[in-house]
Amino acid sequence: MTAISMKDVAFSYGEGGFRMKNFNLDVEEGEFLAVLGHNGSGKSTLARLMNGLLLPDKGTVEVFGTALTEKNLYDIRRQVGVVFQNPDNQTVSSIVEDDVAFGAENIGLAREEIGERISFALSAVGMEGSRGATISRLSGGQKQRVAIAGVLALKPNVLVLDESTAMLDPRGRREIMDVVLKLNREEHITVVLITHFMEEALLAGRAVVMNRGEIVMEGTPQDIFERHEELLTYNLTLPRIGEICKKLQAGGLHVPDTLDVETLAEAIERELKIKN
Ligand SMILES: Nc1ncnc2c1ncn2[C@@H]1O[C@H](COP(=O)(O)OP(=O)(O)OP(=O)(O)O)[C@@H](O)[C@H]1O
Ligand SMILES: [Mg+2]
Repeated sequence: MTAISMKDVAFSYGEGGFRMKNFNLDVEEGEFLAVLGHNGSGKSTLARLMNGLLLPDKGTVEVFGTALTEKNLYDIRRQVGVVFQNPDNQTVSSIVEDDVAFGAENIGLAREEIGERISFALSAVGMEGSRGATISRLSGGQKQRVAIAGVLALKPNVLVLDESTAMLDPRGRREIMDVVLKLNREEHITVVLITHFMEEALLAGRAVVMNRGEIVMEGTPQDIFERHEELLTYNLTLPRIGEICKKLQAGGLHVPDTLDVETLAEAIERELKIKN
């Protein structure tokens, strides 16, 4: 089944400036889709259209076959959870479990059900040991995991992460990516990962590149990586290892385009043996 289907969507914030028109995108159930794009390309606008924080001027956004309207907005938001960039703007309570419970309490669930959902959500993000912790004392990665848990407590089918790792250090980024991969694989949650890190996009099954409100590239992350000249025209760069391959090739070594360190190491070794 299609989790999110955007059909001929048009959207603008007003006269002039940014516009999306005839925008089409399907996200399949269980898929892990990466959305890449330079600043201002429309990634956050897309995230907001996916869960009804914004409504299209024209066209439709369907969530599991139901078109999003002003009337079913709240139901849809429970199905499509969004995690944003700054963890500090997403916390509503100072204690972890209160914060995770907030959304679930707001939809009027029974106390017992809320308790179960907090346990499920915190263990899904590997924070079960921090139920009573003070959020302000957590690391950035831990705070974002609490934010993800708050969304998970609503039992969404789709999780949209809008540059949720942008403010984190490499370790925090890895923590979030591990959690997201696990949710996709083990809980079968459909993931839309918005990022400008090519490295993160490589974990997805499919990637799209946005530019000025349009999808300009689409394919497996590996496909997109191969088209690096084109990526540069959209102000996106390759992962470090990809750049290293390109430089070695330019320097005359016959190494393949790869993102796998072992593969690259073996190719270099082989080349150096031939040359000596
Ligand atoms: N509330 C708003 N009112 C008017 N224009 C807006 C508003 N929000 C975003 N824009 C404009 O719409 C365009 C797309 O913005 P959007 O936030 O979707 O891009 P983005 O790809 O998420 O960028 P970034 O990488 O900086 O997060 C930008 O030109 C932005 O200035
Ligand atoms: Mg954005």
